[in-house]
Amino acid sequence: MAKPAVLLARAVFPEILQLLQEHFDLRHNQADEAWTPQQLAARLQGCTGAFTTGSERIDAALLDACPQLKVCANMAVGFNNFDLKAMTAHGVLGTNTPDVLTETTADFGFALLMATARRISESEHFLRAGRWDRWRYDMFAGAEVHGTTLGILGMGRIGQGIARRGAHGFGMKVVYHNRSRLPPELEADCRATYVGKDELLRTADHLVLVLPYSAESHHAMGAAELALMKPTATLVNIARGGIVDDAALAAALRDKRIAAAGLDVFEGEPKVHPDLLQVPNVVLTPHIASATITTRMAMARLAADNLIGFLVHGKPLTPLNPEVLGGS
Ligand code: DGY
Repeated sequence: MAKPAVLLARAVFPEILQLLQEHFDLRHNQADEAWTPQQLAARLQGCTGAFTTGSERIDAALLDACPQLKVCANMAVGFNNFDLKAMTAHGVLGTNTPDVLTETTADFGFALLMATARRISESEHFLRAGRWDRWRYDMFAGAEVHGTTLGILGMGRIGQGIARRGAHGFGMKVVYHNRSRLPPELEADCRATYVGKDELLRTADHLVLVLPYSAESHHAMGAAELALMKPTATLVNIARGGIVDDAALAAALRDKRIAAAGLDVFEGEPKVHPDLLQVPNVVLTPHIASATITTRMAMARLAADNLIGFLVHGKPLTPLNPEVLGGS
């Protein structure tokens, strides 16, 4: 029997490329060319499966242009690049990579919080610029972390991982807000207290955003929300660009309406709002929260296993819209 045709839309570990080649008639992009939506659609012609990352938009226009497509396996837990409604309407399965990146991403969230509060990037730039001539009592004096109040907006698996690190490792008081409240045993495990969003913004010394992006969460942190935060507070975004209004945040940082921010994700990334590049009190990283070799390999393996599971064995591991499976 002929192998199903699959497009690997981005460069990936050679081991994963080899695994996919064993099962599929594979077209790949190991040169990691940046494709327009039209180029992606052209390369998908005749393919039943696609291995995507969060960067490839799968929407109704693309699905109309690629009628053979049956499955898109995202190498990411977030799937806001998928129009899942359109995929379901077209009978196309979407899969993501939950769980395998939870602890690694929580580690990074905490690292970014620490770097932001303790002004690590800013002080390193100062040193590299040759400006360090002597010790001074208030040089790069930042915000305390241990024993302060950690706020978490979005309390899924990664949010819970950050809460545990704060509560158990740093003796922080943890408050959180989420669409739904956690069951009491999880709240106890995270030592976290559920509060309304405004109270969260008002009380957090360090606020971490870990909520999924959707029309509902677009600009969940805009000028009005930033205005509720303490002037001494820090904000960390490891969720998705678009959850924070980056222009409003840059203005708040410039005017010292909050102390500092740490951002791993941006509106319109890889472009970064020019005003953010001008303010010193922000740590900027290029969407690397899940980037350890072990975790990125586990994510790639799960995405590949979803394609193999569905196209070879009829059983994906982590489907996002399992309703399409009924008729397949
Ligand atoms: C994810 O898994 O959603 C990360 O942001 C990597 O894209």
